Amino acid sequence: MLVVVENFLSAEELVKIRTALASAPWADGQITAGGLAAASKNNQQVDDKSATAVDMANILLCKLGHHPLFVSATIPQRIHPPRFNRYGIGESYGMHVDAPIMSMPNSNDVLRSDVSATVFLSSPDTYDGGELLIEGQFGAQEVKLNAGDMVVYPSSSLHQVSAVTRGERLAAILWVQSMVADAAARALLFDLDQSIQALTRSATTDPDELTRLTAVYHNLVRRWAHV
Ligand code: NI
Repeated sequence: MLVVVENFLSAEELVKIRTALASAPWADGQITAGGLAAASKNNQQVDDKSATAVDMANILLCKLGHHPLFVSATIPQRIHPPRFNRYGIGESYGMHVDAPIMSMPNSNDVLRSDVSATVFLSSPDTYDGGELLIEGQFGAQEVKLNAGDMVVYPSSSLHQVSAVTRGERLAAILWVQSMVADAAARALLFDLDQSIQALTRSATTDPDELTRLTAVYHNLVRRWAHV
């Protein structure tokens, strides 16, 4: 399941983040790539420990926990702080799968990556290439979104970022350990929740039936969630 969260960041937030990133300490993206992924990773990223990275990540983290569509799609237990990356001309990230277990910064905790997300920070008309290609059940999907939009997809998916051929592609990437680890179960809960939200907005919905359906959702979460 691939979910697009449009306008996750406002125009003001984008300006603030892009301005901060312009003077951030950028490093070779290889420093956090392990094993096979390192060989195909050719980009730059902001030092996770820098004040800029922490401050900008906190802006996103504060929003993520309250965003209804993001929460519905991921059912988050914990979120790895967003990491900021940059692809210049000729840079790309070949086909890979994200690490299943990740260290949380500044702690001994680890996170199981169930859901990956990319927040696009550059306007698509400012660069060519740089598409995110995600392999799924029905083939590969090409994702290139407006600045401020986010795509959410299972961390189990093979994916790649194609080479940038003009301009620069800025993005934030993050990972979620979900209370519902199974991607298929999570997709069912998402579909059910979206229907419940639509029925809630409809004036013709029978409230008792809506309550029954909501109970089914909650009881499936009770059955499938690990907390
Ligand atoms: Ni990746």
